[in-house]
Amino acid sequence: MSHNEEIKEWKGYAVKDLKAWERPELIDFQPKQFGDYDIDIKIEYCGVCGSDVHTVTGGWGDDVLLPVIPGHEITGRVVKVGPKVTEFKVGDRAGVGAQVCSCFECVPCKTDNENYCPKMVDTYNSKYPNGDIAQGGYSTAIRAHERFVFPIPKEMPLEQAAPMLCAGLTVYSPLVRNGAGPGKRVGVVGIGGLGHFAIQFAKALGAEVVVFSHSPNKEEDAKELGADSFVSTGQDGFADSWMGKLDLIICTADVSAGIPMSELMTTLRVHGHFIMCAMPDDALPALKTTDLSGNGALLGGSHIGSKKEAIDMLNLAVKKGVKAYIEMLPMKEAGKALKNVKEDKVRYRHVLKMDI
Ligand SMILES: NC(=O)c1ccc[n+]([C@@H]2O[C@H](COP(=O)([O-])OP(=O)(O)OC[C@H]3O[C@@H](n4cnc5c(N)ncnc54)[C@H](OP(=O)(O)O)[C@@H]3O)[C@@H](O)[C@H]2O)c1
Ligand SMILES: [Zn+2]
Ligand SMILES: [Zn+2]
Repeated sequence: MSHNEEIKEWKGYAVKDLKAWERPELIDFQPKQFGDYDIDIKIEYCGVCGSDVHTVTGGWGDDVLLPVIPGHEITGRVVKVGPKVTEFKVGDRAGVGAQVCSCFECVPCKTDNENYCPKMVDTYNSKYPNGDIAQGGYSTAIRAHERFVFPIPKEMPLEQAAPMLCAGLTVYSPLVRNGAGPGKRVGVVGIGGLGHFAIQFAKALGAEVVVFSHSPNKEEDAKELGADSFVSTGQDGFADSWMGKLDLIICTADVSAGIPMSELMTTLRVHGHFIMCAMPDDALPALKTTDLSGNGALLGGSHIGSKKEAIDMLNLAVKKGVKAYIEMLPMKEAGKALKNVKEDKVRYRHVLKMDI
């Protein structure tokens, strides 16, 4: 296969009504207008992210562009490339994460921080500047500018790569940017899609890893994923013996009030970083200034990662054997997958397999 092939059917499982988010329906949709740098990928797999649930349930707000086809952990094969595409050819294995466009001109875009472009276009529930609607990967195909398409290493199966393109990248980026490496001790809060990668990537980068989980029955999994220590946050005084011992905390727990923020802050060394990767529906719990001042802790956020980081991450995953723990479902069971994520039942990522 070397010539451009037109996708015959643009179809996907869409949520049409926020009240019926558990029952996505198959619809036809119009992809964005084809541009010179665009790539069409025939989808084979798509991961199911916590963010898909926040969007379709209206948890982040009810101003959702309906019908919405979720999904931003997409892998498949390139079937068509625009005339100016240089990085891909038809037949290549490729993927798309949680971003499909940006302005290309701002300082973030010009400094490998396109994931912080103020004009970014999300993979779904988002509009291009010309009004075209972006739809996600619970679908037959996706079209995106080559800057937002990632090459998948030949050693990595496509179903493995899919969940890394959002969940993996979202934790890899803040780990690297906040200095995770040899001699550093990293805390990971929450073992879900993001958290199970955070443990593995922190280890792959050479750090020691302490896991904080509200599920005591995940201890064995945490150790298998490479964690050096497991702390059950349900126990009173869980943070006491870790006081002042962590350099960095990556928080992936998908709740707000339920995160024991002030206790976790005490585990940081002087000027240690607490990075909130999760984006729960509600605001963070109130913190007292003394929760931060005692050790000069820094509280920060993070948003997915850059293409450069995505490529580095995939290479590190191949080199160090980082693996997605996958529960595969056919794409027609997207509703069940969303429900399982909402109910915290997945260990640790649903991946939908193309069946349209
Ligand atoms: N910043 C970004 O760019 C970005 C990108 C992708 C996703 N996200 C966000 O990251 C969050 C996690 O996504 P995910 O796909 O990893 O979700 P997930 O697979 O559902 O994992 C969330 C984890 O949160 C913990 N948790 C759930 N309920 C809890 C409770 N009641 N109390 C305490 N902890 C609880 C659980 O870990 P334990 O059982 O171990 O406690 C659970 O496994 C979501 O908010 C998502 O929107 C952000
Ligand atoms: Zn995501
Ligand atoms: Zn920009």
